[in-house]
Amino acid sequence: MASVCLSGLRVVVTAASRGIGFGAAKAFLEEGARVLINSSNSKNLERALNELSALGEVYGVVGDLRVKEHLDKIVDEAVNKLGGIDTLVYVAGSPSPGTFLEKSYEDWEDATRLLTISPAYLARRVAEVMIKQGKGGRMVFLASVSIKEPIPTIALSNVCRIAIAGLVRTLARELAPKGIRVNGVLPGYIKTQRVEHLAKDLARRKGISYEEAYKELEREVPLGYIATPDELAKTIVFLGSDMSPYVTGAMIPVDGGLLRSVF
Ligand SMILES: NC(=O)c1ccc[n+]([C@@H]2O[C@H](COP(=O)([O-])OP(=O)(O)OC[C@H]3O[C@@H](n4cnc5c(N)ncnc54)[C@H](OP(=O)(O)O)[C@@H]3O)[C@@H](O)[C@H]2O)c1
Repeated sequence: MASVCLSGLRVVVTAASRGIGFGAAKAFLEEGARVLINSSNSKNLERALNELSALGEVYGVVGDLRVKEHLDKIVDEAVNKLGGIDTLVYVAGSPSPGTFLEKSYEDWEDATRLLTISPAYLARRVAEVMIKQGKGGRMVFLASVSIKEPIPTIALSNVCRIAIAGLVRTLARELAPKGIRVNGVLPGYIKTQRVEHLAKDLARRKGISYEEAYKELEREVPLGYIATPDELAKTIVFLGSDMSPYVTGAMIPVDGGLLRSVF
């Protein structure tokens, strides 16, 4: 990828102290962007900032994505530190794994806040900033292949993340006249703590070892392996930059061929 293309781009990546968000922030920094990252744990955020600051200009803001005032703080800090926002990448923490019958009312409330209300509210705040700037913008929302083909042991994610697809299509149409493109990414299995937890959960349910469970997940993937966050980040950077000028309203699977359905 050409560095010149992202030089000076002002990017906000949420839930980025590790995993997919961290990988996305790293990829934008490597291409010359200026980045603000967020996570809910100050120690984790500090560790991530230490690592990322070797690559370029990066700031951090501690905030729980389920809390409205913290979302406001993320936007305000981005405007203060970066001078504005050109690209938003919404990554969230994970709702707890489990089957449908294992989940309580409070679990559904929590997951709805994280995967429906918060991305919508943050998008609204960021859209206002981008419209005021008057030079368009890009938003990229992380969802999951589970919104197309539900995974039995992550009921909350299967249901609540579908809202991301509705949000992407709605925003893409409404914001297109303002030059703001809005897209989503559907990761399959990506090598992070989340996949470790899923493999542990699978091992416990099936009475097999963690290693066997991890191999079982790998065997599901036609390309034969679980991708790194860096590999996923290439698609996020593509959608979050001018490398995809005519793409809006798309939900792109990055799954090694995991999805079977045609549409
Ligand atoms: N890995 C996969 O295979 C995969 C596939 C499809 C979808 N996804 C989804 O993609 C998202 C990221 O997954 P990941 O694999 O990168 O997970 P991860 O490695 O566990 O990282 C999760 C990140 O979210 C942050 N976080 C957690 N709760 C937060 C909150 N309330 N507010 C702000 N930040 C919060 C964590 O930082 P702190 O602990 O410092 O707050 C961490 O940086 C999740 O929603 C996951 O379900 C993952």
